Amino acid sequence: MGKLDSLTWLTVETNRLSGAFPSSVYNLSSLVLLGLGDNQFSGTLPPNFGFFFPNLHNLSLYRNKFYGPIPSSIANASSLQVIQMDANAFSGVVPSTFGTLKNLTYLLLWENQLEARNDDDWSFIKTLANCTHLQVLELQTNRLGGVLPVAVSNLSKGIRRLTLRGNLISGNIPRGIGDLVSLTFLTLGNNLINGTIPRTIGKLHNLGVLDLGNNQLSGQIPSSIFNLTRMYHFSIDMNQLQGALSPSFGNLQNLQKVYLFANNFSGTIPKELFSISVLTLLSMSQNSLTGALPTKIHQLKSINMMDISENELYGEIPSTMGNCELLVFIDMHGNNFQGKIPQSFDKLRGLEILDLSRNNLSGNIPDFLQEFRYINYLNLSFNNLDGETPKGGIFRNASAVSLLGNPKLCGGNLQLHLHPCSGGESKRPHRRAALFIAVITIPSVALCIAVVILICIIFLRCSKRKSSPPLVHSNEMLPRVTYYELFKATDGFSPRNLIGFGSFGSVYKGKMDPTGPTRKPVAVKVINLGQHGASKSFMRECEALRSIRHRNLLKILTSCSSVDSHGNDFKALVFEFMQNGSLEQWLHPGENENCEKHLGLAQRLNIAVDVALAISYLYCHSSRPIVHCDLKPSNVLLDDEMTAHVSDFGLARFLPDSGDSKKLTSFSAFKGSIGYVAPEYGMGCNASIEGDVYSFGILLLEMATGRRPTDVLFVGDLTLHKYVQMAFPDRVLDIVDPSLLREGTERNIAHGTSPESMNEYLVKEEARLACLASMLTLGLTCSKDSPKERIQMEAVVKEMTAITEVFSC
Ligand SMILES: *[C@@H]1O[C@H](CO)[C@@H](O)[C@H](O)[C@H]1NC(C)=O
Ligand SMILES: *[C@@H]1O[C@H](CO)[C@@H](O)[C@H](O)[C@H]1NC(C)=O
Ligand SMILES: *[C@@H]1O[C@H](CO)[C@@H](O)[C@H](O)[C@H]1NC(C)=O
Ligand SMILES: *[C@@H]1O[C@H](CO)[C@@H](O)[C@H](O)[C@H]1NC(C)=O
Ligand SMILES: *[C@@H]1O[C@H](CO)[C@@H](O)[C@H](O)[C@H]1NC(C)=O
Ligand SMILES: *[C@@H]1O[C@H](CO)[C@@H](O)[C@H](O)[C@H]1NC(C)=O
Repeated sequence: MGKLDSLTWLTVETNRLSGAFPSSVYNLSSLVLLGLGDNQFSGTLPPNFGFFFPNLHNLSLYRNKFYGPIPSSIANASSLQVIQMDANAFSGVVPSTFGTLKNLTYLLLWENQLEARNDDDWSFIKTLANCTHLQVLELQTNRLGGVLPVAVSNLSKGIRRLTLRGNLISGNIPRGIGDLVSLTFLTLGNNLINGTIPRTIGKLHNLGVLDLGNNQLSGQIPSSIFNLTRMYHFSIDMNQLQGALSPSFGNLQNLQKVYLFANNFSGTIPKELFSISVLTLLSMSQNSLTGALPTKIHQLKSINMMDISENELYGEIPSTMGNCELLVFIDMHGNNFQGKIPQSFDKLRGLEILDLSRNNLSGNIPDFLQEFRYINYLNLSFNNLDGETPKGGIFRNASAVSLLGNPKLCGGNLQLHLHPCSGGESKRPHRRAALFIAVITIPSVALCIAVVILICIIFLRCSKRKSSPPLVHSNEMLPRVTYYELFKATDGFSPRNLIGFGSFGSVYKGKMDPTGPTRKPVAVKVINLGQHGASKSFMRECEALRSIRHRNLLKILTSCSSVDSHGNDFKALVFEFMQNGSLEQWLHPGENENCEKHLGLAQRLNIAVDVALAISYLYCHSSRPIVHCDLKPSNVLLDDEMTAHVSDFGLARFLPDSGDSKKLTSFSAFKGSIGYVAPEYGMGCNASIEGDVYSFGILLLEMATGRRPTDVLFVGDLTLHKYVQMAFPDRVLDIVDPSLLREGTERNIAHGTSPESMNEYLVKEEARLACLASMLTLGLTCSKDSPKERIQMEAVVKEMTAITEVFSC
């Protein structure tokens, strides 16, 4: 490979390559892009590393096992714009030579073992001030100690992300940080930072994520923070902050996650904090908050997790809390709430964890708790509850329920070891029973907590993967959408916004909150979970979409997996909205309301090329081969420039990593779409690329003839394929879509009939017919009955491109 001295682009990312940095690559001085990321390369980089690559723009070494110092010569590769060296074991100080890279935009060094002990070691920050195009600087999870230099304020004014979480940084937050006004993402959490939060942080009005958690910050939250109205993630947990929580929290209407736990906050909870309808997580435990819970709590329409444990809150639990129907996790233990468990909690059907222990609650344990399907931890111990204990649902499982220290409770299942209800009621629970319950419950609760933490980690990871910008592997925390946001975006899933039915659900047009993260219109595909196999299809689509990215595939923006307002599971995928609908609507306009639509031959050819490129990408170029299995005009969507995007991966299959594509695990429940599905599938054959080639062939024939494979014309043995074959080649004019022929005549009339243009017209007309004939020929070869006789996918792309080129000449 070292002899390919004109090679500009080399990427072998996401493989299992190992060994030292491939030495032949040092010969490739014309490289512009070098991608070795996500492999198992190891070893050190030589001191003269940078001298080998004078033309390099993009160096990606992330997620390997490289170690040792980062050579300062790296800056001799003076064209570098993007450097991704994260998730390795690089050590030593960050070279200050990075500052000489005039075009540097991304510098990702997170998750290494880079060090800093004193101001000298931090001098790289000062020199980076010369990189005026720097947008992203990621240094989190290293061993950078000492004080963050004030020169941080001289970094490029365009910097959007600065991550320093998880280092050993001490000292104060420099006040000048407020000068970095483009920041959307700032993390300083998990360090040893002390002092107060500088007021200047309020100048970062683009900030979406502010993470200062787990430091030694003291003083109050500066009021300027409440100017940060775009913020959706705010963590200042585990510090020594104090004072009352400000009513100005109500300004932050985009907040989704708020972590305030383990500080010294006091005073009451401002009711304005409960006015944030997109809030999904609120953690305020281990403070000294007092007073009653504001009854406006029902305005938290999106809340999933609420932890207000270990404060000094009192009064009754507001019955309005039952309207927060998306609650999954409630922890209110260690307060002084009194009165009954509200009857309205019967609406919290999605609840998984409920801890009300160590309060002063009285009355019965409500019966509805035994009907909750998802609950797996219920702790009501150390209250003043009385009466008979329910026996069904979660109460059957003594290791999931804790009722200790409620001497007036009776009955229930035997394993709970409460005393029987009728007859003489003793005032104390049985000592041995209490001990028994404690012994068997503690390990299982530990397990529950472990599972919750695991789920959180998985969620974070998922959102990380999804959001990396093109060519940059990053660890963005994109906001996940909630059920409520999608509900709002689609006007409550109003029928007016219904734009179609996919194979496993309905698709709505939606507009996200204009101040929120996505401003463009979106398409929300709601999975019909009632349908058999729908859940599997959702998973499959998610998995397929996560690993692919191509101009001709419909782009997924985010997903939502939650419970709806009735407590039922709710799953949805959010895609870019395609302005021009589906190819189906364009090919058969008469059957749809909009009769204006007409696709010319050139447009049809371009669409066919787009589709061929998408399918061949899925099969040949994505990280694992994927077959689509449900290619048809309604799954080909057109954007505002009429570029085609293949959609609907609900039936998509990954092919096995190695070996023959035909040796697939069998799938009996396979459903493609009648007319487009290859005949061998009906005979129990497995998903294969030949099946997609068949569907593509049918699509081509349909685009050329304007007839669906399910047209009423095709009865008995006559299929679209046969129909075209019989007419071929002499009667082609009889079968092509009449609107394609009309197109020619109309243009002729419009242009007048001067001799030159007439001549020109005839030449063009000939080219059109030749082109239609080639399209039909290709369609016929693709849709042969026997998979073996069909043309290969790569050849399809070549043919299709050739046809288009000939036509446009
Ligand atoms: C590098 O290039 C030189 C000549 O240009 C060649 O002799 C040598 O074999 C190459 N090295 C590698 C590792 O390919
Ligand atoms: C920035 O570049 C200029 C000229 O290239 C140089 O004189 C100056 O020292 C550099 N500044 C820093 C902070 O490196
Ligand atoms: C920041 O830059 C300004 C002007 O370029 C300079 O005067 C100042 O000393 C720099 N600050 C630090 C802390 O380097
Ligand atoms: C517990 O609640 C009862 C009323 O239900 C009240 O009389 C009692 O004082 C409360 N106990 C504490 C410690 O607050
Ligand atoms: C009982 O609860 C524990 C802890 O939540 C759980 O691991 C276990 O599967 C449950 N057992 C049954 C039979 O539901
Ligand atoms: C239930 O809560 C009490 C008091 O908060 C705690 O001591 C106990 O460990 C909890 N039980 C379980 C099973 O977690």
